[in-house]
Amino acid sequence: MSAFDKIIGYASVKKELKQISDTLKNREAYDKLGVSAPKGLLLYGEPGVGKSLMAIAVIQESGRKVFCCRKDSPNGDFIKKIKATFDEAMQNAPSIVYLDDMDKFANGDERHPDAEEYVTVQSCIDEAKDTQVFVLATVNNMRCLPVSLRRAGRFDRTIRVAAPHGEDAVKIIAYYLKSKRFVDGVDPAVIAKIMDGRSCAELETVINEAGLYAGYERAESITMDHFLKACLRTVFHIVYDDRSDFEDEPDDCSRRLSDPDHTISQVIYHEAGHAVVSEVLCPESVTLVSACCTSGDVGGFTSYYNDNSKTSLYWEKSRIIGSLGGIAAIEQKFGISDLGCERDLDQAFDRVRDLIVQTCTSGFRFHNNNYSNSERLMSEQEQAVAAEVEKYYRKAKEILSANWEFFEKIAVALAQKKLLSTVDIQKIKSECKIIPVAV
Ligand SMILES: Nc1ncnc2c1ncn2[C@@H]1O[C@H](COP(=O)(O)OP(=O)(O)O)[C@@H](O)[C@H]1O
Ligand SMILES: [Mg+2]
Repeated sequence: MSAFDKIIGYASVKKELKQISDTLKNREAYDKLGVSAPKGLLLYGEPGVGKSLMAIAVIQESGRKVFCCRKDSPNGDFIKKIKATFDEAMQNAPSIVYLDDMDKFANGDERHPDAEEYVTVQSCIDEAKDTQVFVLATVNNMRCLPVSLRRAGRFDRTIRVAAPHGEDAVKIIAYYLKSKRFVDGVDPAVIAKIMDGRSCAELETVINEAGLYAGYERAESITMDHFLKACLRTVFHIVYDDRSDFEDEPDDCSRRLSDPDHTISQVIYHEAGHAVVSEVLCPESVTLVSACCTSGDVGGFTSYYNDNSKTSLYWEKSRIIGSLGGIAAIEQKFGISDLGCERDLDQAFDRVRDLIVQTCTSGFRFHNNNYSNSERLMSEQEQAVAAEVEKYYRKAKEILSANWEFFEKIAVALAQKKLLSTVDIQKIKSECKIIPVAV
């Protein structure tokens, strides 16, 4: 088994890593051609995406001795440690210097391009230039590093490691599920959509957390509901409180939908509005709808997945209309204005402004350029933005009216369960007649 087999997915990154480790292991093949092997590799990306796992695979496959350096001592001592690591690596060449989380070498998260630590790393790399020392670094935040350190000749290869997406995420989830006792029918593809954009470390944690919920209940196996609760807790930082507003007595569902001051019903219908408008415009895009509140707060959320089957302009417009779906739902259902929906409005205005000013969807005259950045232009832009938002708002109301049955059923389900996954939404959708609306 190759060390690279531990890396699930990431085919193109893996291919590049294999090539690099080949240049370290089989130098003669490259020497014969008169080429010099890369001197360094920088792996960068969000925490938890697998940079260390990949670096270790390269090290193991290279067969070289490794000398590792991590920030674990005060500044003065640490400078000495950096120098000692490079010295040892040079004495033991061919070897690898592994600088893990190099952006943490200087203090804090801010940019310190002149920090002594980076200057030291840079001069050590230059000193080791003509030796068989390969420098491998991982970095969470590239902006912390001085540009000179990142340049070719020091780190010849730079690879971005992004959070897993699509098929890669499905494979990683399936891998983590393999060792757990999940009920049949838990589909890695469904989990992958819900967790899109999350790191491997988060995927691993959420799946394990689902198991903890199941264990605490002494359940025989882990269900999708356990997973959803874990997801809510770990990803959205909301505790699924079984005892909160949602006591599970049969009559409670209708009480929640018609509470006199609309506190709970507004949350439910608001989220149902987002979900219905988004689902009608982009089928299977809604991954989670929640009427759960963060501690003490009233509120819910709806999250989305973009499978890229629509053009990006259509997706943008759908997201704008979807974000107005909550406010539209409250007006249509209760005939009142939705309070506390500033975030939805901000989102709609920001996205519309981008379309008008940057993409020029309403004409080139609204484009900002160096010569016409006047107050008059700005005021015209803002008028155009407000008119567009009004137009999208009418569209949201049209979609809800045309799909009222779907809207009411989502609200009832949300009142019963307070957390709906894409599976629940698709089931409800299949029981309703869906009327598409052109945008
Ligand atoms: N592609 C992957 N396949 C399998 N497990 C992975 C993958 N990427 C990351 N992991 C796991 O996720 C966790 C975090 O990975 P790590 O390499 O420490 O991330 P980083 O160094 O980017 O912070 C580890 O348990 C690691 O084994
Ligand atoms: Mg790491």
